[in-house]
Amino acid sequence: MTAMRRPLEWLCLMLVLVSGGAQTINSDGCPAWSSEPVLEKLKVSDECFELLADKWNDTQTAAILDNLRRLTDVLQKQQKKECKEVMPGDCPFPVIPSKGGLVCVSAETKVYCKPMCNEGQDFSFLRRTRVYEECSATTNKWTTQYVGGNKLAVCNKSDIQISGVPSAYFPKDQDCLKTKSEQALEKKVIETFEKELRDNNIQGQFTHSCLICG
Ligand SMILES: *[C@@H]1O[C@H](CO)[C@@H](O)[C@H](O)[C@H]1NC(C)=O
Ligand SMILES: *[C@@H]1O[C@H](CO)[C@@H](O)[C@H](O)[C@H]1NC(C)=O
Repeated sequence: MTAMRRPLEWLCLMLVLVSGGAQTINSDGCPAWSSEPVLEKLKVSDECFELLADKWNDTQTAAILDNLRRLTDVLQKQQKKECKEVMPGDCPFPVIPSKGGLVCVSAETKVYCKPMCNEGQDFSFLRRTRVYEECSATTNKWTTQYVGGNKLAVCNKSDIQISGVPSAYFPKDQDCLKTKSEQALEKKVIETFEKELRDNNIQGQFTHSCLICG
């Protein structure tokens, strides 16, 4: 092992260490990672992560953060791809609130997306009578309070959450990603939204649904 390691190698090394496997390189030039062990091993307490982080110096920490950011970008693109099928016609993909998420459901030729904020965040516009926005395959445009765009809502830092209906906020300790990482929680968020759509007289079969986090 050489002392000088390039940033990506550090990330690989970290994942390998965390996954406990030896590094084998596939024919595509990438390490032979299996997702399951990595995922399971990453479910550790904050204290364990702190112990792991204590082993790295400033340079290494910066390199790992840099690579995690790249990994985050890749994963976020992947998330969007998964949610793509929920968009009818040429409806553009809406901007995802960075401190929250969007839960989207399609029915007939329309898609409905409800912006949601994490704890400690609130919408900058009042949304109590405006739980969701919509886009139809005929207009290919989003209804939104923001001028001419695909931005549906913004989650801004706030001590109080009053701009939206209670269901528009993720509970404490259960932000968007946490919710999405547990299928039962994700299902509940989608079901709540489907009920809200029915209460608003949205007819037709719900064909696709997804939760996407910022
Ligand atoms: C951190 O550790 C690496 C590998 O041991 C070394 O090459 C680098 O110079 C160290 N950086 C600092 C700031 O100590
Ligand atoms: C909320 O965020 C927007 C940017 O999207 C900003 O213009 C606005 O000032 C923010 N509002 C508050 C109350 O921080």
